[in-house]
Amino acid sequence: MNDRSGRRPGRGPDAGSLAVRQMSPGELGATCQVLGLAFADNPSTLANVHGDRDKARRTTERAVRVVKLRSRYSHVLVAEQEGRLAGVLNAVQWPHCQLRAWEKFKTAPTMIAVMGSALPRAFAMMNARAKHDPREAHWHIGPVGVHPGHQGRGIGKALLGSFLDMADEQGCPAFLETDVDKNVALYQKFSFMVIAQQDIIGINTRFMWRAPKRHQAPPAARYERRQRS
Ligand SMILES: CC(C)(COP(=O)(O)OP(=O)(O)OC[C@H]1O[C@@H](n2cnc3c(N)ncnc32)[C@H](O)[C@@H]1OP(=O)(O)O)[C@@H](O)C(=O)NCCC(=O)NCCS
Repeated sequence: MNDRSGRRPGRGPDAGSLAVRQMSPGELGATCQVLGLAFADNPSTLANVHGDRDKARRTTERAVRVVKLRSRYSHVLVAEQEGRLAGVLNAVQWPHCQLRAWEKFKTAPTMIAVMGSALPRAFAMMNARAKHDPREAHWHIGPVGVHPGHQGRGIGKALLGSFLDMADEQGCPAFLETDVDKNVALYQKFSFMVIAQQDIIGINTRFMWRAPKRHQAPPAARYERRQRS
């Protein structure tokens, strides 16, 4: 349970010094920096920028600010370890999880400046991913990132656990996409199931769904059940 400040005791090996809470507006810059560092080695991010790690970090840091964390629909959790911002989880509720046409138009000039020559590939990736977005109520999680110096210490699990407790209380499913095998295993531990996969710009991208506790059928199973009855 969260304490009165909205903080939540962490889990895992460093649980004693770990707190998960909502991001405050003054932390936007530091939060984007953590995501930039966390995604500098991500396969899709690297594919967008032809393997340039530093560009992957910079473009992620700036793009998440423009199209993700600044959105008024974003729910951003941060993990603080020994007073330092170490991890971030962003989630947006459907249908606001996909940019509408006017939002794409509004953010286009900044995105051109941020992504440069990587923009066509990034858009192709975003459009291909968007086609898998379930057309029903859900929390769309992403990005989730932990500072490279703090990975593997239970911070990602603490962020996911905290967020999914809230989703369960709301009775709301969750959805995400990932392109890293290790992450598929992590999300499966939280009862996410792979419901689709697609090769997108050469990267095997998995789409994962999690029903809230006590409602475990993924959308495809529910669809098939409706067809049978
Ligand atoms: C994926 C990520 C958020 C997990 O957070 P974390 O704090 O490193 O993970 P935790 O310590 O809470 O959990 C460890 C589990 O995550 C998985 N994992 C994924 N990436 C890992 C990494 N770089 N280091 C250690 N574990 C990792 C392992 O399966 C591990 O399982 P185990 O505990 O059974 O061994 C984090 O590693 C990260 O930011 N990675 C780079 C960015 C990324 O891929 N984000 C997710 C995109 S879908």
